[in-house]
Order: sequence, then C-alpha cells, then structure tokens
Amino acid sequence: MKTDILRVDSFGIDQVTIRIAADIIKSGGLVAFPTETVYGLGADALNPEAVAKIFEAKNRPLNDPLIVHIADIQDLLRLSNEVYKITLDLVDAFWPGPLTLVLKKSQTVPSIVTAGLETVAVRMPDHPVALSLIRESQTPIAAPSANLFGRPSPTTAQHVLDDLNGRVDLILDAGKTNVGVESTILDLTQTPFRILRPGGVNLESLRTIIPDIEPYNGNKILAPGMFIRHYSPKAKVILVEENGSVQIDKIKMLASEFAVQGYCIGIIAKEENKDKYSDFNVKVLGPAKNLNLCAANLFSILREFDKEGTQVIIAESVKEEGLGVAIMDRLRKAQAKRKQCLTKC
Ligand code: TXA
Ligand code: MG
Repeated sequence: MKTDILRVDSFGIDQVTIRIAADIIKSGGLVAFPTETVYGLGADALNPEAVAKIFEAKNRPLNDPLIVHIADIQDLLRLSNEVYKITLDLVDAFWPGPLTLVLKKSQTVPSIVTAGLETVAVRMPDHPVALSLIRESQTPIAAPSANLFGRPSPTTAQHVLDDLNGRVDLILDAGKTNVGVESTILDLTQTPFRILRPGGVNLESLRTIIPDIEPYNGNKILAPGMFIRHYSPKAKVILVEENGSVQIDKIKMLASEFAVQGYCIGIIAKEENKDKYSDFNVKVLGPAKNLNLCAANLFSILREFDKEGTQVIIAESVKEEGLGVAIMDRLRKAQAKRKQCLTKC
C-alpha cells in the first residue's frame, strides 16, 4: 500500500482534502489524523473489517480496546444506552477535549473495537481537522494513537510516517499536536469512578465535576491493554526521580558510567538544568513550571533520541501535578524493565 500525505491548515480547512480522507474511511480504509493530544490511526468504528486493519497496521494485540471518536453528542447515544447526568456534566465541561469516557456499550459497537468488553471508550477530540473528518465520514471513527504498538505516540505527521509508512492509506498533516500526551481515560462503569490513564485533563479539573475522584494509581494495571511497558523508545530509559540537588549529580554519574562503557547517552532535562550537563547530549523538555510545554515535547524527544542512535536515555523527573502526572506516568512506563542487549556505539 502506498501512503499519501496531505497537508491541512487547521485554520482554513480545505474540504476537498477532508472529502478524500472521508471517502477512504467510508470505503473501509485507514486514515491517520491529528487530534489535540496525539495523531490517531482511524477507521470506521462500525465496520469490523476496517477496524481489524488498525490492529494489523500497528501490530497491536486484539485484547487492547480502541477509543471511538465522535463529533456530535447524538453519536454518544448511539454508542451507549447508559448515558446518565454525570456523563453529560462531564461532556459539557470537557468536550471537545482530551477526556475519554468509558461507558456501557450498545449493540451498535462491534466487539472488535472493545476487544470483547461490554464497555466502550468514547471521546470528542478538540481539533478542527479531526472533527471535520468525523462529520464528513458520517460515522464514529475508532482510533488508537498512530504509532507501532509499544512505541511513543506520534505528535507530528512525520512520526506517523516513520512508524506506519506503507501501512496506512493517508496521513492528514496539520503540524505538531498541542497537548502532546494522550487523553485522560475515566471509567464511569465502576463505582467509584476510576481514572484508568492520566492524560490531557488533569485531576484538579476533573474534581470540579467529581469532587471525590481518586488520583490515578499507577501501581495497578487498570485498563485492559495498558501493559506496563508502553510508550517506549528503542533506547533504555532511566528515570531519576527528584531528590533535592542529588538528582543532577546522580544523572551525571550514571551518564559518565555508561559513556565510559561506550554507550551513546542522551539526557532529558528541564530548561533550568540544561547547562549542568554540558558534557552530554541534552534535550530540553521545557521549563519546570510549564508542564504543558514539557508534555508537548516529551514524545518528540524520545523519538529524536532514537533517530540519533541513542542507547541510554537518562531523564529528570517533573513535578507530579497537573499534566506532570501524565508525563511521569509515560516516563515510568518507558523505563519499565525489559530484556535487552545494548550494543555499544
Ligand atoms: O488521546 C488519545 O486518547 C489518543 C487519540 C488518538 O485520541 N488515543 C489513544 O488511543 O491514546 P490508544 O489506543 O493508544 O489508547 C487507548 C487505551 C487502550 O489502550 C485501553 O487501555 C483504553 O484506551 N481503553 C479503550 N477502550 C477501553 C474500554 N472499553 N475499557 C477500558 N479501557 C479502554
Ligand atoms: Mg497508544
């Protein structure tokens, strides 16, 4: 399959381009498209054969359910017959936006989308290109992040191409995504409601609607398919968690030890600390106080290090508040141990 790329200007969307993409979705093909979080790999959510192609293209196990993207609240009522007031309050507060709601599924949703579960994950993305594509396709669009399974999510069209060239019919390129980490997933089918994945909507915001919602508990694997190792670059990742000024010394020590052994080292640092690592290849996540910018840069940095052939990435931690919770979750998952052989540079 040849993968086409078409540029779309988010501020002046060319409907001809959207129609080309929508025709692919309608005829059971795959289109990668931008959302405000990361790029998604989309197919007609109501066409099981089309959805099967998503799993194949990503090498994704069939037990990892997909998020269904909608552009109209009416579609929520087609996907679930159990939409209560609290759901509508959350929809009012956060949609379109980076919040995915897990609800009891209706018969309309094919079981391949939900990996056989009786629940379905739904969100309305806050991106004009995504919304136009869904409307023009006249169907909800199932879309995981548009990366190969286990790789960092794509925040640019180039990232999608790097992973899925020849595996997707079309990539709509609207530049870099804004949020940079995936949506928050909230399960409304269990009481108390549970955050299954921290993401673009933070705990403090959720508490304006559900005051007693518990913080995400990363020690339990709650969502199906959320295997510990996820979001991983090819390099080994070591996350050095904050502990006063010791953090910088520890990172320098680790980096020197690996460098002496002949490994290519990369360091992920906050803006304030970058000069402390001048002997090494450093990439800046962002200022410690601007966690939104840090989130937007995270996956790009992991992929850049891979392209440079970096073998060991040593990362500073960020404060676990706001989007910092999602950033630390992704870094911890990237770090999760795996059997691997490091080859020296
Ligand atoms: O921001 C995002 O959420 C992006 C963009 C493209 O919308 N999508 C995304 O999808 O991150 P994906 O497939 O990479 O992650 C979706 C995760 C699954 O791995 C699973 O853990 C959870 O959503 N999920 C999906 N359906 C579920 C369900 N019925 N119950 C519980 N968790 C579910
Ligand atoms: Mg993903």
